[in-house]
Amino acid sequence: MSQIKGPKHIPLLGWRYRGLQMLRDPMGFFTNLHNKYGEFCFWDPKNSKHLCVFGPEMNKYVFSRPDIFIVDAFRESRLPRNSAIERLSFGLMRLNGDVHARHRKLMQPAFRSTVVNTYWQSVVDETNRELSNWQFGQTRDINKDLIRLITNISLKTMFGVDEIENNARLQKLMEELLILATSPLSLLVPYAIPGFPYYKMLKIADEIELIIKKMIQNKIGKAGNDVLSILVNSQSEDGGLSENELISEAYTVLCHESVAATMSWLLIMLDRHPEIYEKITNELATLNGSPLPVENIKELKYLDNVVKESVRLLPPSGFSLRYLSKDHEFYGVKLKKGTMVFLSSYVTHRYSNVFDNPLQFSPDRWETIQPSPYEYLPFGCGMHSCIGKYFAQMEIKVILSIILQKYKLSIKPGAVIDRGMRVSMVPKHGLPMTLNRLTDKIKRENISGNIFESIELI
Ligand code: HEM
Repeated sequence: MSQIKGPKHIPLLGWRYRGLQMLRDPMGFFTNLHNKYGEFCFWDPKNSKHLCVFGPEMNKYVFSRPDIFIVDAFRESRLPRNSAIERLSFGLMRLNGDVHARHRKLMQPAFRSTVVNTYWQSVVDETNRELSNWQFGQTRDINKDLIRLITNISLKTMFGVDEIENNARLQKLMEELLILATSPLSLLVPYAIPGFPYYKMLKIADEIELIIKKMIQNKIGKAGNDVLSILVNSQSEDGGLSENELISEAYTVLCHESVAATMSWLLIMLDRHPEIYEKITNELATLNGSPLPVENIKELKYLDNVVKESVRLLPPSGFSLRYLSKDHEFYGVKLKKGTMVFLSSYVTHRYSNVFDNPLQFSPDRWETIQPSPYEYLPFGCGMHSCIGKYFAQMEIKVILSIILQKYKLSIKPGAVIDRGMRVSMVPKHGLPMTLNRLTDKIKRENISGNIFESIELI
């Protein structure tokens, strides 16, 4: 059929087996394919529906042709038409062309640095509130704490909601929805049969949508500094967003698992690199116990390099998916409309011609390199690149500045750190860390897990 290679066809199961492998551990899956087949391959040589393309040249090829390689998040989930779950998922990552451009234009003002900077106080307050539960000597699942913290910050900054009880309810629903939506059983049995995850997912989506609708109603005509108030009351020459569009975009910007995931991976890498940990705490010590001020977000150079390096090695959104909008000839091979095209920043960030010793966690490399947008793309590339990039970076740096000036964190001895996949790549079994005093001497104990495939660790 084609000269594009790929792993051997498995009778009966075919691409479905590969799909399950991919869902279980996308980063391992794509790395193996890249190591074996190079810059492009099919999942299954008998089925040209799934194409994987790797590296800067391929990223450029795909991301610079948004009319041919389109987004359609959740296409595979077969969501019922006109349902709450469909409306919740109809945000930017499902829109293309003029509609996408219109939404993005209306949303952009809410993500400008001048607006995002006004969220600094909420980030500080929520972090201090979270830390009031942390006690020296405790071992806690820091990933879970970070997810709660980031969701609370999101609810406050994106929706202007500050009631802890409401937050807890919405947070629980969002967490459940995420688990159900990414469960392989929901993808394999997408039918509303009571008791099945897909059915539960639809019910939870109904409840979330009701909560968001009420919030939207409360914002109409009222000035507010949260993202939802800005969106509800913003207009362009083509008008504002309809209620359904608002529901979709509101839910899109509320889901921030990637921020908590980034911070967890970063803390794991600091734990395994005591000299880097010390260097970053020395830099933070110049703040004399205060949170990183908003006007200095870009000024702590070492912190900036650590964050950059962390999302290079363990980008929480380590792969992207596009669909062919029409038949297309790709390097001499005729591909059909609808072909799924997978790209991976995780794989790209390991190209040794761009990043020397790519598996080493080396923040200092950022003093001398300036990769192109196709070589380094933790926040995506092209039309659909991350609208919340500046917000995420501000949040991560400010929270870290508070945590690391108060505690010396160390991973629980014997912890297993495996890559897991939800919407983002997360530490599969959580992140058990002990809260030590800054003056404590820490002996780094052994940990295990497939993290050792992703990065050279001690
Ligand atoms: C460290 C945290 C984050 C990372 C690593 C990240 C990464 C990404 C990536 C890779 C994409 C592009 C996906 C693709 O092309 O397939 C993306 C898109 C997007 N991100 Fe983020 N993101 C983060 C935080 C956030 C935050 C905090 C928000 C909102 C406040 C946000 C909102 C969005 C939206 C709305 C899009 C879709 C943009 C579009 O389609 O036009 N992200 N993000």
